[in-house]
Amino acid sequence: MVALTIVTNMVLNGVWLAGSRTWVDDGHELPAAAKRHRYIVRRSAIRNATLPQDNAPAGATELRNEPPHFSAFKSPERLLMGAGPSAVHPDVLSVMSEGTIGHLDPAMIVMMEQIKDMLRYVFQTKNAMTFPVSGPGSLGMEACVDNLVEPGDKMLIARNGVFGTRMTEVASRAGAEVITTDDDWGRPVDPKKIEEALKANPDTKFVGFVHAETSTGALSDAAAICRLAQDHGAMTVVDTVTSLGGVPVSIDVWGADAVYSGSQKCLSCPPGLSPVTFSDKAVEHILARKHPVQSWLLDLSLVAAYWQDNSGKPRVYHHTAPVNALMGLHEALRRITDEGLEATWDRHRTVSAKMVAGLEEMGFSMLVDEAYRLPQLLTVLLPDGIDDGAVRKALLEDYHLEISAGLGQFAGKMWRIGLMGETAREANVDKLLAALKEILD
Ligand SMILES: Cc1ncc(COP(=O)(O)O)c(C=O)c1O
Repeated sequence: MVALTIVTNMVLNGVWLAGSRTWVDDGHELPAAAKRHRYIVRRSAIRNATLPQDNAPAGATELRNEPPHFSAFKSPERLLMGAGPSAVHPDVLSVMSEGTIGHLDPAMIVMMEQIKDMLRYVFQTKNAMTFPVSGPGSLGMEACVDNLVEPGDKMLIARNGVFGTRMTEVASRAGAEVITTDDDWGRPVDPKKIEEALKANPDTKFVGFVHAETSTGALSDAAAICRLAQDHGAMTVVDTVTSLGGVPVSIDVWGADAVYSGSQKCLSCPPGLSPVTFSDKAVEHILARKHPVQSWLLDLSLVAAYWQDNSGKPRVYHHTAPVNALMGLHEALRRITDEGLEATWDRHRTVSAKMVAGLEEMGFSMLVDEAYRLPQLLTVLLPDGIDDGAVRKALLEDYHLEISAGLGQFAGKMWRIGLMGETAREANVDKLLAALKEILD
């Protein structure tokens, strides 16, 4: 067996096997001169050859751990009605189980172009640089911030929940001088505070904010904040992780510069991809940077060689893209383009109104005022006497229903009920309300 492995290795590495008359060099015939002078190896030499592992320290090739043996994983039945991930349509799962193809396969390239087109539709943008980053929403956040910000740049970030706060962390790690505005959890970002901060800090280069704060359920006025940033000569970084596909997002009308989202919320895809879009102005800014982007993986000037900015250059390897995950995103986006964005937004609104009415009838109240309440993520205040953990446990174990807990100051006092993408169906509202009634009666 060892001898066979040695022979095989030598064939693969380009040697002539005496007696077999076979010349091999990476699968090609070698020229005659090379045949005479190179790679002649006698069988005895093959027999005496050593493998690198033969020189390994004593014991290094012996197994120390026994192989663990498990049965194949099976997902428990779940209806995902929390803050994400949301329910995934069986068609999306079925396309994801198509055979894996190469990340530069011609069929893959066609699919990638279609994903870019469909993302431009959901983002409502003509931006050439629109594609999904291979990673979760937080990586999309890093892709936007890390590409735009250079050490010492001033970035104003609006905090009104967990994810604005996360953006301050990402920006400081990228070397930004971070300044902030703060709004109470449950309220939208106040554009007046942004304006005051920009007036007080005329050297601000970037403004970052979260359109739909998943930790609180509040929707901010993205158009107003982007306009203020433009008026003060700053570019914008916008988080649309929870808003994209659930409420109107209109990148070109807003004039936003670097925008990221996530596959697992209103796009109703499994987690792990982060659609991003960059304005031409943002791309020019990135290409003119003085310092290279700190992250090689996220450097837009390199990733573009794979996802391509429609420059017509041949596509080349950058990283091995998550092929099957992209197949899923393609199908999820196809479902949205078939339904139409306006109908999708409408469905979220209608289903959410039904849920709010049912919850209010049961005595619950909403944290967020109706004027800026996210239809796709309801933050529900718990009346005294309700055991948050016990109810969520019962929902999961007895009804296969997942809802999310409150975060930070709302831990134990609030639920986050998601009606995102495929979850936003009237039948799901009925199921959750009926289950809650049974548990609480
Ligand atoms: C508004 C917002 N931004 C960013 C993120 C981070 O996304 P991910 O968990 O996919 O990294 C989330 C996740 O829930 C989010 O809701």
